[in-house]
Amino acid sequence: MTHRYAHTAAPIILGGQFTLPGSKLTVNRMGYGAMQLAGPGVYGPPRDPDAAVAVLREAIAAGVNHIDTSDFYGPHVTNQIIRKALHPYPAELVIVTKVGARRPADKSWQRAISPEELTAAVHDNLRNLGLDALDIVNYRAMGSVHGPKEGSIAEQVTALAELQRAGLIRHIGLSNITADQLAEAQTIAEIVCVQNNYNLAHRDDDAFIDDLARSGIAYVPFFPLGGFTPLQSSILSSVSDGLGVTPMQVALAWLLHRAPNILLIPGTSSLAHLRENLAAAELTLSAQLLEELNGIAASTMTATH
Ligand SMILES: NC(=O)c1ccc[n+]([C@@H]2O[C@H](COP(=O)([O-])OP(=O)(O)OC[C@H]3O[C@@H](n4cnc5c(N)ncnc54)[C@H](OP(=O)(O)O)[C@@H]3O)[C@@H](O)[C@H]2O)c1
Repeated sequence: MTHRYAHTAAPIILGGQFTLPGSKLTVNRMGYGAMQLAGPGVYGPPRDPDAAVAVLREAIAAGVNHIDTSDFYGPHVTNQIIRKALHPYPAELVIVTKVGARRPADKSWQRAISPEELTAAVHDNLRNLGLDALDIVNYRAMGSVHGPKEGSIAEQVTALAELQRAGLIRHIGLSNITADQLAEAQTIAEIVCVQNNYNLAHRDDDAFIDDLARSGIAYVPFFPLGGFTPLQSSILSSVSDGLGVTPMQVALAWLLHRAPNILLIPGTSSLAHLRENLAAAELTLSAQLLEELNGIAASTMTATH
């Protein structure tokens, strides 16, 4: 079936391209994170479902070919909006989802990590996205308030590897994990991407990112703009003022400059913010500005979460 977005023009490359290891999946480094499309608190429907559909369609039309989602956003709502907006999907679109949590009616985030729960979550994603197989599924470990928490994830990765052998998952990734957990997972399955909390102000993963770059594994920062607490810093403001762009554009451009294996999935429910974020793929930062921006994490700014 031909798709209304596919191949109408030369492909648009946003921020360069990256091929996920051991895969045929090549994506633009600037992608889109769909979490903001659910209702307040990532629960229930958005206030304006048509606007959510418009954001997704514009993202694809502008060249995005990597969307991050989960069936626990909403729950189900975000995937259903993606399906409504974009199905049948362009051949080049890579949809990455994640499993490992559930959302009870009290809107909390609870672990759902037994093999049975992970299998059910994969089927939920398939059904709500309208797919026969998922391109990439991240196992999202819960961790602690401070971030990832050590501990075996072998049972969960084994469950995903079985679903991969059954043809329901093409590739496996990990989220909110440590380097030791990655090493354990790699004894069970090939891991193509890691999705952890990282941005200008929150740089616990600096060494991890460099190791992953050497292995050719994608690093996909969540909260690239600070997430629920948007980045604020006088250094960031002064650099963006000097360039005549916005602080969020500089924050995204800094990530693209930080390492070649970083793929971006900034989240927004706003068309204006989407356009602004995608334009950051064109922004070049000099070595001097990069050095200034590297000072943010060390400064006393209150930007992290
Ligand atoms: N693996 C995980 O555990 C995990 C956790 C969190 C998120 N994620 C994924 O990562 C993606 C990105 O994270 P995120 O959406 O939480 O955080 P984010 O991208 O750091 O920031 C999103 C927030 O920034 C605002 N924003 C976006 N663009 C902006 C702009 N140009 N100017 C000003 N404000 C802007 C958004 O509000 P507006 O809607 O008003 O633009 C939203 O409040 C998510 O969409 C999700 O797919 C994964």
